[in-house]
Order: sequence, then C-alpha cells, then structure tokens
Amino acid sequence: MEKKQERLSSGISGLDEMLGGGFLAGRNYLVIGEPGTGKTTFCTQFVFEGFLRNEKAIFITLDQTKNELLSDMIFFGWDFVDKQAEGLLTILDFYDILSLEPSIKITIGSLERGLRQATQEEEIKIDRLVIDPVSAIDIGYESETSSRTEIFKLFRSLGEMDITTLLTSEKPYKTSFLPLEYVTSGVIVLTNFRKEESLIRILEIRKMRGTKFNEKLAPYKITEKGIEVFPDQKIF
Ligand SMILES: Nc1ncnc2c1ncn2[C@@H]1O[C@H](COP(=O)(O)OP(=O)(O)OP(=O)(O)O)[C@@H](O)[C@H]1O
Ligand SMILES: [Mg+2]
Repeated sequence: MEKKQERLSSGISGLDEMLGGGFLAGRNYLVIGEPGTGKTTFCTQFVFEGFLRNEKAIFITLDQTKNELLSDMIFFGWDFVDKQAEGLLTILDFYDILSLEPSIKITIGSLERGLRQATQEEEIKIDRLVIDPVSAIDIGYESETSSRTEIFKLFRSLGEMDITTLLTSEKPYKTSFLPLEYVTSGVIVLTNFRKEESLIRILEIRKMRGTKFNEKLAPYKITEKGIEVFPDQKIF
C-alpha cells in the first residue's frame, strides 16, 4: 500500500488528479518538450501555486533573461515582480552570465553555490525550485559516472532540504531517452504537432516513482490562464 506522503499541487488544472494528488514533496521532476511546448509556463504555474500557500521559490533561468521571464509571466497575469518584493521569489539569472561570457560553463557546482548563497544569505527555507532548462548546464565532466555522481549529490542535498524541484529539458532529437530521465523521480513529456490547421498539444506522464499515475495521453491547452490539462478528453 502507498505510504501517505506530503504532496504539492502542481498548480496546473487537471494535472494533480493525473499525478494521484500532486507531486511528492522533496523530489525532483523533469519536464521535457520541444520549443514552445510550455515548459517555462509549466514551471511558473508550479511556483505560483506555492505562493498561494506562502511557499518560497527559487527560479533559475538559463535560456531567458530575468526581464524577459518577468514580462512573459505578466502576460499570463502572474506578477513575479510583486513576489520578489514580498520575499517569496528569488530569480537567479544564469542566462546573463552565459551571454556576457559565453566561454563560461555553468556546472552543477556553480549552480549549487548560487543556490547556497541565495538560501543562506537570507536564511530562507525554499519549498520549490526550478532549473529552466537543465540542459543548458554543462554536466559533461570527465566521465559520465562523475556527472551522475554530481547530479546525485545535488538531488540528495535538495531532498535533505525538502525542496521539490522541476527541471526542464529539450526533447532529444535522435535518441528516445535523456540520461536525466533515469535519475529523476518523475518525467513529464509535452509533445506538440500539427493536424491540418490545428496545433495538437499532448501531455504524457512517462514515469512517477512511488505513486500511481494516469498513464493515458492527455490533451492540454495554453491560454491566457496558462496550461490546462484535460485527462478525460480524447486527443482527436
Ligand atoms: N497568453 C497566451 N495565450 C495562449 N498561448 C500562449 C500565451 N502565452 C504563451 N502562449 C503559448 O505558450 C508558448 C510558450 O510557452 P513557453 O515559453 O512556456 O514554452 P517553452 O517550452 O518554455 O519554450 P522554449 O523551449 O522556447 O523555452 C508559446 O509558443 C505560445 O504558444
Ligand atoms: Mg522556456
């Protein structure tokens, strides 16, 4: 029988019921999708849901500037600026570092240092963390084994701090799976394709350790309210 564990609402309409009640707290989840499938929007909804419960979040952006992210989110009506002012949100803009100095490699180590600084300086307890996209981080150390060890170390310390993490990544072009899919607690895949005039958006839960989940493919929409998933609707 499944042990009762704390769950966090995803903030995405229709998704919690597919997840069996939300994300298990203190774990890390990978959201995979092609450009424009809604990965960043997904993560924003996740942290915004936390704000409604007074939970604190760190959003690490690696492929958009902080200002771009802020203005995209205002478009959906989610005011990140206010949340920063209220002390609920810290945005770490690694994109800025990368664009100023492209030769710099963002590693798991630099990410951990950034996180430690952000949490220790203000002595805040973080509940939700986003790394968008994790694929921009250089995890190619000397060998695959050592990069796995680094990732395990990061995940372990996040787990110890009881932080629930969303990582995003682009969809692999040739291979069917990403190495990170093996080490994260859960994987959600967002797929978009054209059918005649329409854009079809499909969400798949590929894996969720420690819980039952809805294995069916579910259509989703992105509107001015963000992402909405429709688990009971047929795709075509
Ligand atoms: N107000 C809105 N109403 C409807 N759809 C919207 C709205 N704002 C954004 N979108 C849709 O959301 C998509 C962008 O989502 P998002 O930036 O979350 O995608 P992403 O997967 O993070 O993309 P990337 O890989 O480029 O970072 C747009 O392509 C657009 O289709
Ligand atoms: Mg994005």
